[in-house]
Amino acid sequence: MLDSVLLEARKITKRWPGVVALDGVDFRVYAGRVNALVGENGAGKSTLMNILSGVYADYEGELLLEGAPIRFRTTAEAQKVGVTMVHQELNLIPQLNVAENIFLGREPRSCMGLIDYNKMHGEAQQHLRRVGFVHDSHTTLCDLKVGEQQLVEIAKALSLRARVLIFDEPTSSLSEQETQTLFRLIDELKREGVGIVYITHKMDELSRLADYVTVLRDGHLIGEHRVHDTSTDEIVRLMVGRERKDLFVKNDHPKGEVALEVRSLSLEKRLQNRTLKLEEVSFEVCRGEVLGIYGLMGAGRTEVVETIFGLHGAAAKGVLRIGGREFLPKTPREAMDAGIALIPEDRKHDGLVLGMDIARNTTLASLDTMLRWGGIDRGREEAEAEHYRAELAIKSHSVQQPAGELSGGNQQKVVLAKMLRTDPQILLLDEPTRGIDINAKNEIYKLIDRLAAEGRAVVVISSEMPEIMALSDRIITLSAGRVTACFNRDEFTEEALLKASLPTK
Ligand SMILES: Nc1ncnc2c1ncn2[C@@H]1O[C@H](COP(=O)(O)OP(=O)(O)OP(=O)(O)O)[C@@H](O)[C@H]1O
Ligand SMILES: [Mg+2]
Repeated sequence: MLDSVLLEARKITKRWPGVVALDGVDFRVYAGRVNALVGENGAGKSTLMNILSGVYADYEGELLLEGAPIRFRTTAEAQKVGVTMVHQELNLIPQLNVAENIFLGREPRSCMGLIDYNKMHGEAQQHLRRVGFVHDSHTTLCDLKVGEQQLVEIAKALSLRARVLIFDEPTSSLSEQETQTLFRLIDELKREGVGIVYITHKMDELSRLADYVTVLRDGHLIGEHRVHDTSTDEIVRLMVGRERKDLFVKNDHPKGEVALEVRSLSLEKRLQNRTLKLEEVSFEVCRGEVLGIYGLMGAGRTEVVETIFGLHGAAAKGVLRIGGREFLPKTPREAMDAGIALIPEDRKHDGLVLGMDIARNTTLASLDTMLRWGGIDRGREEAEAEHYRAELAIKSHSVQQPAGELSGGNQQKVVLAKMLRTDPQILLLDEPTRGIDINAKNEIYKLIDRLAAEGRAVVVISSEMPEIMALSDRIITLSAGRVTACFNRDEFTEEALLKASLPTK
């Protein structure tokens, strides 16, 4: 039997100044099925879904909801008829609590017209339970980790009782366990007849989740396939329009002297719903070496690099030894002055100024080198940015384009450029390939390898086991804020890493 089409897009074209983001694209959402949408960074995936969900009202082509033409002018209009999107970049308000975020603008009210807080939290809890969110609905959003905020977004979508639910790279910041819960939820929603769109760069998710896969390349529809009739290799080939590029193979290069020695790093910081904790974390990284940090979510990986980068101020104890000097940075400025750079996990909040252009974002952390006659040498700034745009293949029409106009993966590349520009000797990379497509990932692996070959020390955090095993010379594992093991390259196995990361208690 043919699957029934809930929502259909016909010949959608979307133009931005200087770029055609979508060129006559057709797309279908089927009742009770998952249609996965794939393509390289900047292919047009988020743009297409923004049109389906009412974010962009200005486009050519038409939408049909159960066969009838429809045009959404706002997301509220789309939500009203049951079309909802869970965004790639979070859209929640950090100062509000979880329930307030879920019901923002449509809070349940009592007969007196006042907000019925009991009802609001009660309903919020129901949806939160379904997505596997463990904290209270009174928790302030900014006290949550990125992955937990993502769960709140999903709970919000559930509360809207969608018939068409669009997920834009939902698992890029979820833990393994959270991901499994989401997959089960999607199975349930399918049984309820909800039509699902699922954007992803993770090819292994296709066979687990998707019934259909639709490929976009440079704003063009390449095709829609049934997942069972195709293969990952075939899909990747369709995405890039050529055979898959050579996979990354790590080069062997000599290790130099110890670049960073971390001794007894400890941290205790209470947030509303959890405590950030590190206990006596010690390790060293040499010049020319890539050190991986592996651990499950909540193990303290991010806290380790944040503390080294001076982000936890006086709450942190311990000492760093860099070039004979012993100290612990209390601010990022101090860390940067010591040659340390950090690529943060949450690029929207820590990494980029979305309203500024690519050029200024690139030089932002090293503006002092751009000064001339008391002003910023704009010509040089643009030339520098142009260099990184080419090197990292940042897809944009110029370096004057605001960072906020780039696709998610390309924003991540600008964060990388900004950090590289500071010419750091010690690089801390927290999930550097989050949201980056399969081909660009390989390029970033090569770049990391080259940075190490140039004599820099690199610390990489990644939740993706194959990634961290491919990149690292050594891996340390963390669990509950402590270092539990250290492995040399010839000792890497998925099993050993996982075992060492499991909580002991
Ligand atoms: N607000 C905007 N203004 C101008 N151009 C934009 C805007 N939003 C997106 N674009 C451009 O449209 C193209 C498609 O971007 P889109 O965000 O849809 O890509 P994507 O497939 O979701 O990529 P990613 O995998 O990196 O998230 C890109 O060239 C992007 O720079
Ligand atoms: Mg996107």
